Amino acid sequence: MKKIAIFASGNGSNAENIIRYFREKDRGAEVVVVVCNRREAGVYQRAENLGVPAVYVPKKDINDEEIMIGILKEYKVDFIVLAGFMLMIPDFLLAHYPNKMINIHPSLLPKYGGKGMYGHYVHEAVVANKESETGITIHYVSEKCDEGEPIFQASTMVSPDDSPADVEAKIHQLEKEHFPRIVEEVVSLL
Ligand code: GAR
Repeated sequence: MKKIAIFASGNGSNAENIIRYFREKDRGAEVVVVVCNRREAGVYQRAENLGVPAVYVPKKDINDEEIMIGILKEYKVDFIVLAGFMLMIPDFLLAHYPNKMINIHPSLLPKYGGKGMYGHYVHEAVVANKESETGITIHYVSEKCDEGEPIFQASTMVSPDDSPADVEAKIHQLEKEHFPRIVEEVVSLL
């Protein structure tokens, strides 16, 4: 059984979907811990409801090799999923988890990626630019923000009268449909 850590910073809907997916039946992996850098994040309640430990790790500790590797060793983590995690990943983590860390981004990268482009900022920019489609990208994590090797993309239409919140709802739908399955596929390659 491969052990997955999910890193999240906010609401945690993706974290919840992934935890549930690997619980449904034996899929060769399980989520053993959630790591979160914001105390007020909704993901704690979701993890607690599902009986998965959620650890608060402030930004300075995320960047501390001894602390982070200590936590990941404690839970024997084989693979890391960034699900709405809003901090850059330190180099030592990339070195410990080469090709064993993936991220989801709520746009069709390389469009609407990079520093400052995350969550609702992405959907606001998509609407402001009158895009007719947007989507999700799941990619390996590299040292450059949103530039790691792409694994999967899915798109959805944007209507002229869609608000950023409407776009966000469409994106969450796509994430729910695809992200857990893609995690399973990538973990099965380990
Ligand atoms: C998701 O839409 C995810 O794609 C996005 O944050 C949201 C988190 O939602 N990630 C990024 O913007 C990363 N740059 P959630 O907390 O409900 O899973």
